[in-house]
Amino acid sequence: MTRRPIIFGNWKMNKTPAEAKAFFDGMAGYVTGEEAAEYGVGVPFVDLDVAVKNAGALSVGAENCNELDSGAYTGEVSVPMLKEIGITYCIIGHSERRTYYNETSAHCAAKAKRLFASDITPILCIGETEAEYDAGKTEEVVRTQLKESLEGLTAEEVGKIVLAYEPIWAIGTGKSADVNTAEACCKLCRDTVRELYGDEAAESVRVQYGGSVKPTNIKEYMACADIDGALIGGASLKVDSFKELVDATK
Ligand code: 13P
Repeated sequence: MTRRPIIFGNWKMNKTPAEAKAFFDGMAGYVTGEEAAEYGVGVPFVDLDVAVKNAGALSVGAENCNELDSGAYTGEVSVPMLKEIGITYCIIGHSERRTYYNETSAHCAAKAKRLFASDITPILCIGETEAEYDAGKTEEVVRTQLKESLEGLTAEEVGKIVLAYEPIWAIGTGKSADVNTAEACCKLCRDTVRELYGDEAAESVRVQYGGSVKPTNIKEYMACADIDGALIGGASLKVDSFKELVDATK
C-alpha cells in the first residue's frame, strides 16, 4: 500500500481574507498537483471562500466544524456550510481547541462521523502535554485519545482519515520532537489503528507529525516509515517558507 504524503499548513487565527489572497497569489502555480505529495492549508472560516477560489492545486481545509447540521448554536459553523463552498478537509481536535475550548475526543468522534457523511476528510490531532511526556504517559494518552476520537467510525473511514500526532510541548516552541520520537509515536498511532480497525485501515491511514516543523527539518521526518506528512503552523504562513517546505519534499 502506498500512501500519498500530505503536507498541510494550519494558519490558526492568522490572516485576513486580503492577506489570504496575497498568500495564494504568491503561491500561484507553485504546486501543480502532480507532486508525489499532496499540499494544503487549513485556514480561518472567513478565509475559506477566498482560499477555495484561489488555492489552485493546494487543498483547502477548515480548522474546526460543528457536528450538528443547523440550529441555535451561536458562532458555530456546520459541515453542510463547509461542503457547499467546496471544502475537502477539516482539522479537528487540535490541542488548542482541546485546551482553550473544551473540545473532547467525544466531540472529535461526532465531528469525524459528520465530516465523512459529507465526504470531507478529517485531520484528527492527538498528542500529549509536556507533563505527560515527562511522566512517560505518551503511549497511554495517545492510545486513549485515538480510541475515543475514532469511536463509531468504520474501518473504511478510519483508513481514509488523516491523523496528526502533535506533542503539545513541540507546538510553537521551536522544540521539535527528535525524529526517533516522532517516528515511534506515529508508529504507535498506526499500531493502535491496527489493533482497533485491522491491517487495511492501518496501512492506508496517513499519519502526520506536527510541532515546530520547518523547511530545515521536514525532510528528516518525511524519511521515516510511519510519517506520511506534516501539519505545520508558523512555517506555513509565509509564501517563501511554504515554497521551501514544498521544495524540501518534492
Ligand atoms: P507550529 O508548526 O507553529 O509548531 O504549530 C504546529 C501546529 O500546531 C500545527 O497544527
